[in-house]
Amino acid sequence: MVSEVAFSEDHRNAIDAVRELYDGAEGALFGLIFGEQIHLGGFNASTTLADDAGIRGGSGVDLCCGYGAGMRLLSRYRDVESMIGIDISPEVQNVGRQRCVEDGITNIEFRCEDACATSIASSSVDFVWSEDAWCYVPDKDLLIGEAVRIVKPGGAIAFTDWVEGSDLAAGEREFLMAGMRFPGLETMDGYVGLLQSAGCDVVHAQDTGTFNLHLKVIADMLDTQLRWDALRKVSFDAAQVDLIVDGLKLIAEWGNLGKVLQARIVARKK
Ligand SMILES: C[S@@+](CC[C@H](N)C(=O)[O-])C[C@H]1O[C@@H](n2cnc3c(N)ncnc32)[C@H](O)[C@@H]1O
Repeated sequence: MVSEVAFSEDHRNAIDAVRELYDGAEGALFGLIFGEQIHLGGFNASTTLADDAGIRGGSGVDLCCGYGAGMRLLSRYRDVESMIGIDISPEVQNVGRQRCVEDGITNIEFRCEDACATSIASSSVDFVWSEDAWCYVPDKDLLIGEAVRIVKPGGAIAFTDWVEGSDLAAGEREFLMAGMRFPGLETMDGYVGLLQSAGCDVVHAQDTGTFNLHLKVIADMLDTQLRWDALRKVSFDAAQVDLIVDGLKLIAEWGNLGKVLQARIVARKK
């Protein structure tokens, strides 16, 4: 372990909760409704992020890699030479390793670690990557600090994430955090400030503008075509599936109102 951080009890509880979520039935349900890429916008979101960050070749780390589909995409379509995927869920990593074998991809390593305290050497990789996952991490300052620590000077930190927009009421925030199991959402400005304070130039910070569209697609798929498959994943608990469908549709609507959005951010370490 290169990072040595003493985490608060709140941090440890949040990490345990997310591991339980992704190791369990709901994690499998996300894998069903999102597919291999558990982020809004799928393949196109990944290639746009890679293009914005100018990723072509080199070495990278995916902080919160899930099944590792983003890493496999970069390996296949952006000639990335090697990647390390960090994720806290052993279950998703096992699936990810198996899919690398199935895809014949040998330049990806998975490590089961907290993204805020990895075993990656300092200033050792060309870029840090992440898609729609930092919303699960409680201490965004520690997370950004870790991303900056491991990337080489001049290297990119490229990520998308769910962020809070404007006019989200307190009750809506509470519903969003509880329903999605987020410990807290950053704002776009908040991320820009954290990156700058940690010694980066922010070269790109944009609302993707497609939060509502993409989340609505997921909710509608779950509501219709995939309902049976979803029921199987959660022991045929129809009320749970209804709750998720209704929750996703409501949050998608908030996206339409600019209360929640998907940010795409690229920064460079000075
Ligand atoms: C929404 S999924 C996104 C996965 C991947 N980025 C993708 O686009 O498919 C979030 C992932 O983040 C992981 N995760 C959440 N908090 C983490 C943490 N503190 N450290 C490592 N992994 C974490 C979860 O286990 C889960 O696999």
